Amino acid sequence: MPKTATFENALAHPVFKTIAKAAHNLQLESYVIGGYVRDYLLERGDAKDIDIVAVGSGIELAKEVSNLLPGKPKVSIFKNYGTAMLKSGPIEIEFVGARKESYNENSRNPAVEDGSLEDDQKRRDFTINALAFSLQKENFGLLLDPFNGLDDLNNKIIRTPLDPDITFSDDPLRMLRAIRFATQLDFLIEKASLAAITRNAERINIISQERIVDEINKILMTPVPSKGFGLLLKTGLLPHIFPELVALQGIEEKEGQRHKDNFWHTLEVVDNIAQTTDNLWLRWAALLHDIGKAPTKRFDKKIGWTFHAHEFVGSKMVYKLFKRLKMPLNEKMKFVQKMVLMSSRPIALASEVTDSAVRRLIFDAGEYVEDLMTLCEADITTKNPNKFKKYQNNFKLVRDKIVEVEERDHIRNFQPPVSGEEIMKTFGLDPSREIGIIKDAIKEAILEGEIPNEYEAARKYMLTKGAELKLTPVK
Ligand code: CTP
Repeated sequence: MPKTATFENALAHPVFKTIAKAAHNLQLESYVIGGYVRDYLLERGDAKDIDIVAVGSGIELAKEVSNLLPGKPKVSIFKNYGTAMLKSGPIEIEFVGARKESYNENSRNPAVEDGSLEDDQKRRDFTINALAFSLQKENFGLLLDPFNGLDDLNNKIIRTPLDPDITFSDDPLRMLRAIRFATQLDFLIEKASLAAITRNAERINIISQERIVDEINKILMTPVPSKGFGLLLKTGLLPHIFPELVALQGIEEKEGQRHKDNFWHTLEVVDNIAQTTDNLWLRWAALLHDIGKAPTKRFDKKIGWTFHAHEFVGSKMVYKLFKRLKMPLNEKMKFVQKMVLMSSRPIALASEVTDSAVRRLIFDAGEYVEDLMTLCEADITTKNPNKFKKYQNNFKLVRDKIVEVEERDHIRNFQPPVSGEEIMKTFGLDPSREIGIIKDAIKEAILEGEIPNEYEAARKYMLTKGAELKLTPVK
């Protein structure tokens, strides 16, 4: 592609003409910059976010654009950052004035000065994100690329426009962004930039957990997340973000017995599950399914390496981890906990798929039983093709059995067929221990297959249990 390529097609949407007109009215230059340009050149589909840089006031430009748009959309102004945002239909447009900028050592609060387009491009994170399209009439669509971002795009390279120590020190989150983009786009991080991440890794500690988690989520949502996590480990970022994962790394040998490297195993599981689900939380569950193995690891002379109760310990760690990472402590977290806690259940079951074991699995996993199976299938990482096939077939049997049992017994979203109220009425009881005992006995009898999950059978069973407890029905 020639260095002076023009991309008018990229700016075919009428909103670009409107921005150009507004900039013309204010007699300032404006450019499309960043992700929109990058993704257009990568043919990654239509971006919904557009970043505009104005040589002058971005806020004034936003206001003028709003004046020219039908319905004059509301302009949100972020004075501290000197930015403004408006929405035109589904498109979100962010405006910023071109800046020369340097950040303080210990905070993200920038000292800002007005600058030229090139000043602004210079202080962006990567050459591929510093590409800009002109919105000036005389060169509408011209690509402005002072740092050879187009070459880097074509060669699949992540590189900082300035000395990487400066770029990363300006905003240490960019170290994570470099890894996220490398994973998302399947690019390589150029050597000097990679070395700078390793050198500056510790600076990630000044970044808020929310911004870090945003990047982790994006890495998790890529087709091969292990690439990102591998880079996080290699650069030394991971211990600052996720020491619990790092603790899974390594293989120990005692008396000729080795255990597998649970870090790399975990990443394999995440890659596997990335092929079968786009559910972010199920991907989190894959990432954390063995997290309890580091603190529970023991060597037993008779049985070798054990990770006793690692699922339980792991599910407790999920809460602490979510809390530290300032992630939501809501039903998503509970879902991840449940998956971690139950992550070995279908494996234990696969050797003998009895109806009652399947009923208990459905009862405990409830609406998430398929998600649990998806996790367990992703957990098969054996390199032995015969074993692989065998485990897969076993899980297929479990899945079939789940369908069969559920069709017959309706255990999912289990509702006790006889209510506590009915038990109280039948035996003339006030709220008391006995009611719980009878309810529990009915549930157990259903799960064990002693009685069907039906009202009549459950009522009869209640009467028998009542008699055992020396209760008599009132007339
Ligand atoms: N940018 C930057 N440093 C950051 C964040 C953003 O230099 N820490 C610049 C980059 O030029 C980037 C642009 O701001 O392209 C817009 O940032 P953002 O919307 O966060 O990212 P995109 O590049 O649009 O990509 P994505 O939407 O995938 O995050």
